Amino acid sequence: MDANTIRKKYLEFQQKKGHKVIAPAPLVLENDPTTLFTGSGMQPLLPYLLGKEHPEGKRLADSQPSMRLQDIEDVGDPRHTTVFEMLGNWSLGDYFKEEQIRNFFEFLTKEVGLDPERIYVTCFIGNEKYGIPKDTEAAEIWQEVFKEAGIEAKVAEIDTAENGDKRGIKPGERIFFYNDKENWWSRGGGCESTPIGDPCGPDSEVFYDFGEDKQDVEKYGLSHPASDGARFMEIGNQVFMQYRRNEDGSFSELAQKNVDFGAGLERITAAAIGSFDVFKISLLKPIIDKLEEISGKSYDNNTDEMRVIADHIRGAYLLAAQGLVPSNKTQGYAMRRLLRRAILRALDLGISSNFLAEIVPVVAENYKDLPDSILTHREVALEVMLKEEKAFRQTLNRGLRELRKLASQSQKHLEGVSGGHDRGVRRAAPATAGGGDAVSREVVLRLTGHDLFKLQDTFGFPMELSIEECYREGIDLTENYREEFEEALKEQRERSQTASKGMFKGGLEDHGEQTVKYHTACHLLLAALQKHVDPSICQKGSNITADRVRFDFNLDHKMTDEEKKAVEDQVNEWIEADLPVVFDEYDKEYARDTLKAHGQFWDKYPEKLKVYTIGDFDNPVSREVCGGPHVEHTGVIGKFHIKKEESSSAGVRRIKAVVE
Ligand code: ALA
Repeated sequence: MDANTIRKKYLEFQQKKGHKVIAPAPLVLENDPTTLFTGSGMQPLLPYLLGKEHPEGKRLADSQPSMRLQDIEDVGDPRHTTVFEMLGNWSLGDYFKEEQIRNFFEFLTKEVGLDPERIYVTCFIGNEKYGIPKDTEAAEIWQEVFKEAGIEAKVAEIDTAENGDKRGIKPGERIFFYNDKENWWSRGGGCESTPIGDPCGPDSEVFYDFGEDKQDVEKYGLSHPASDGARFMEIGNQVFMQYRRNEDGSFSELAQKNVDFGAGLERITAAAIGSFDVFKISLLKPIIDKLEEISGKSYDNNTDEMRVIADHIRGAYLLAAQGLVPSNKTQGYAMRRLLRRAILRALDLGISSNFLAEIVPVVAENYKDLPDSILTHREVALEVMLKEEKAFRQTLNRGLRELRKLASQSQKHLEGVSGGHDRGVRRAAPATAGGGDAVSREVVLRLTGHDLFKLQDTFGFPMELSIEECYREGIDLTENYREEFEEALKEQRERSQTASKGMFKGGLEDHGEQTVKYHTACHLLLAALQKHVDPSICQKGSNITADRVRFDFNLDHKMTDEEKKAVEDQVNEWIEADLPVVFDEYDKEYARDTLKAHGQFWDKYPEKLKVYTIGDFDNPVSREVCGGPHVEHTGVIGKFHIKKEESSSAGVRRIKAVVE
């Protein structure tokens, strides 16, 4: 059974049970200060769970695409994904525990066809401190439901993690009581972590048993539903939302008793096909197949990498298809990070050239059943992703080269085991024949936070990626690398403030986002003038405000309309190509003679100066001596438009231009 079928069956089933199927909310939340993405089906319904009347009634259902970036590090195991679909149904003060439990059991066993013998459930054991009682009601309903299915379900109590560990399951046990770490639901977690004002309550979770042979006893001990390991997987959570957290930390009953039910579509589908690996289901397997085809490698031998790549590309597609574009801020940055991580992991599989063009259509095909009302930008999703891939590969190639260069420059020789390593990493000295004083030498590559900053700031290679790369390559990091990074960031801020007050500020009045864009646009403009009008053109001055740039340059004639158009089109083409913008400090001579950087005041420049390069480092679009700051990628500049071209003084022309 595939995921699209299960989604459809679920919504039809809930409709039969009197629910109104509502449109899911967008994944990307615009004005929520607490979170970037919709992370559960209940999130958009918060006001209604707190008592506001919903226009569609008291019984609602949907399938909500959700994203939990906090799970990103767990991706790679058989069941975690950053993005997933949550099948949800809600009773807003209508039915309560009995109808919910019966309905979900019916759906799982009759519609999806799961074997009731493989279903295990959990209930809330109660919390004395907050005066919240044990949920014997839910447990009794479950006992009855199992009995009707011919199963005698025994009850077990596992209050603390300690006695829970390695305990396993005693014969006949099927209903497990746990404490609020497991069986209390709020957007913040257990009782203590419930946010003030939020609706919350005890929950009853449903688990699927993939079989005793899936428990890794050595690693996790004997399994029980909420323990770690691959034997049990949670496939649904029924929250009995009847409380609200007060200002003073206590809980009081809500005026209405709600049900908030959520289930991972991916996980139910995995149970339906009897695979404890969710990456085998219809929404993910085709991506894995394609990855096997492109890389010529097998999923069995490259499981982790393929899971991460499949997950991240799927997530990025859903974001792109909802109109998000990669950027350096908030949601856009999260999307950029997903794509960059996927591209990096693909490198591990030997995929070093563009591959999204082959993968994304597979993902899009999987999601053709999702409504247009949610995937509003599916037509442009591929294009948006391809552009990011291209830009990142340029950044990446250079960043990785620089990382290795910095690492090899850092070569440290450790002597013996007591070489005083910062992180206390001990490397065993090889046994020496004579024992005695023989000293072993070993080369250690190590990067500092300053190195990481340079990689990020100059080469657009983000710190997280450097850390991951170091981890993979066995390159050490200094103990204080985070502090060092912050230090470097602060220094750079101070430097650029001083530079903007100095002599070569190039008309840059402040570092507002808009003026930074204009500053980079100026470099592109000069390069376009040199390319399309006259290679000997130099900048004679510039003045930038948040609304426009005024740019003076030497030229002996009024620009023709054709010249203006060619220059404008060229600048826009470079902007659309989303070229990386990087800088570094060089000796004056090297910058002028080897790098051939453009500069106006060579005799006045200091011995060390900063050079900005736009585009491919070895064959750049523009290279200028400049204090900066600049945008990191030209794509953020916007549309460039020449408003006016006029004479400024003898032999000097002036262009007024805007970006929109
Ligand atoms: N809101 C509940 C959850 O996210 C159903 O698990």
